[in-house]
Amino acid sequence: MADQLNVLVICGSLRKGSYNRALIRALPALAPPEMKFTSAPDFETLPMYNADIQEASGFPPAAQDLATAIRAADGVLFVSPEYNWSMPGWLKNAIDWVSRMKDQPFQEKPVAIQSCSGGMLGGARMQYHWRMSMTFLKAFVFGTPEVFVGQAASKFDKETLELTD
Ligand SMILES: Cc1cc2nc3c(=O)[nH]c(=O)nc-3n(C[C@H](O)[C@H](O)[C@H](O)COP(=O)(O)O)c2cc1C
Repeated sequence: MADQLNVLVICGSLRKGSYNRALIRALPALAPPEMKFTSAPDFETLPMYNADIQEASGFPPAAQDLATAIRAADGVLFVSPEYNWSMPGWLKNAIDWVSRMKDQPFQEKPVAIQSCSGGMLGGARMQYHWRMSMTFLKAFVFGTPEVFVGQAASKFDKETLELTD
């Protein structure tokens, strides 16, 4: 096993004051020292997936950059809010793009999922939807431990957004 584990973190929120992003900032202090976290390259400018675009001009650079980062990582960690009991649409769109690549990058990739949400369940339903998509893509999805941060506003400092729970 490698001396250092490089974990690519994909955040599901675009919000500046995001609780999920705040949880990501708390991770290095909670993780073993040999685990290194790297943020995924930006992909919020990706167009909605359309096979016609793919056929006409190939994969957008942002999708290629994301796929390269996933391939280079030892594992991927999604930290995402739940939107309407499921995953945020823009993030699913990005995964739809990379999933159409020949050597799709999630194949046999260890994947873990965490979530913060305003609700009591902490985004549990969203996590189970991600598991389904990742299983289809032949990722190795961690079943446990499960990390749900429910009622997120009460778990982070209101000023600094530091995790206080
Ligand atoms: C479009 C939308 C849908 C949402 N749906 C859910 C939901 O299904 N379950 C839930 O617990 N919270 C839901 N929320 C509330 C989010 O959990 C809350 O806004 C959370 O802070 C978002 O994460 P962030 O702080 O990282 O941006 C929803 C929020 C939005 C904007």
